[in-house]
Amino acid sequence: MTKTLLLLPGDGIGPEAMAEVEKLIDVLNAEESAGFETDRGLVGGSAYDAHGAAISEEDMAKAMAADAVLFGAVGGPKWDDVPYDVRPEAGLLRLRKDMELFANLRPAICYPALASASSLRPEVVEGLDILIVRELTGGVYFGEPKEIVDLGNGQKRGIDTQVYDTFEIERIAGVAFELARTRGNKVCSMEKRNVMKSGVLWNEVVTATHKANYSDVELTHMLADAGGMQLVRWPKQFDVIVTDNLFGDMLSDVAAMLTGSLGMLPSASLGAPDPKTGKRKALYEPVHGSAPDIAGQGAANPIAMIASFAMCLRYSFEMVEQADRLERAIAAVLDSGIRTGDIMAEGARQVGTVEMGDAIIAQ
Ligand code: NAI
Ligand code: MG
Repeated sequence: MTKTLLLLPGDGIGPEAMAEVEKLIDVLNAEESAGFETDRGLVGGSAYDAHGAAISEEDMAKAMAADAVLFGAVGGPKWDDVPYDVRPEAGLLRLRKDMELFANLRPAICYPALASASSLRPEVVEGLDILIVRELTGGVYFGEPKEIVDLGNGQKRGIDTQVYDTFEIERIAGVAFELARTRGNKVCSMEKRNVMKSGVLWNEVVTATHKANYSDVELTHMLADAGGMQLVRWPKQFDVIVTDNLFGDMLSDVAAMLTGSLGMLPSASLGAPDPKTGKRKALYEPVHGSAPDIAGQGAANPIAMIASFAMCLRYSFEMVEQADRLERAIAAVLDSGIRTGDIMAEGARQVGTVEMGDAIIAQ
């Protein structure tokens, strides 16, 4: 069976990192008959230059039809002054919206070789492997009303509205429980039910979803502020954390810093299963941006992009063995003392993007 992948390398270091994943795809096709069929499209500034839009309708249609989308990074100083609705980020937002990618998966894995680069003590993070599941399409970032009202007395009022409906909480909880079954079988749900009605509902619906379909998974609840504290105090107590859009934005950035460089962090965004095929729409991307300061130098760390591809193998194609092997190869290469500039350490050998990719493939 062929597996279709749409590659959207984007701008800056996006294409440099994507090139290393393309080498991996070639290896999997040649040595394991993986059957990947790739197509390419433009997104961000490069799409704006070619089509005057942050993503063309043709490439949007390809994204909707693909089994999975691999996304590099978008943006850069060249496009700082383009009109707001065609700015580079608009391409990513359009993909998330049209593909209805409501579940954002952000793993925080601390590779042993990098434990001393964390902002925490090595023993707190060494061997860390947690997954934050953030609701991505609802909550206070999208709820209406959302406006600044002029109160007429020299005062203004900024309004954002936190809104969650039952189905939105049910489906994100379902993703978290399903993922937990493939990992440590534990979910911790975080909200603020002590001060927010949406938090009360979140807690109720997660509990009911658990009882109905996932009672084999261990479920705990934590207030999101206490959760932030626990993430920094003893992160290894968690396996999967499920939380809303706003808390997830903050908690996943906190978790990211437990593990070291931006150049190491992958992510996945998943949609609802197709009623006919059961397959979820999915987009995989590194957490970092286009890094204009190092773009074009061959110095970018490709690991975040490669680890995003490992997530793609795991979640879109059930190639669990290959995903495990790829993640072990990353760890082994780091253990061997090969580093890109962003994760450079004393006594290590500094390499560029291409050599890092080659080392992982060789491993
Ligand atoms: P950034 O993530 O591009 O860079 C922040 C710092 O981290 C820079 O010093 C960069 O050199 C370094 N860095 C990032 N990824 C790296 C890697 N793989 N290897 C080595 N070093 C790495 O964030 P910044 O500077 O805030 O934004 C730059 C541009 O990227 C802006 O136009 C921004 O809008 C865009 N951006 C795009 C994102 C996306 O495509 N999803 C996400 C974040 C920012
Ligand atoms: Mg954020």
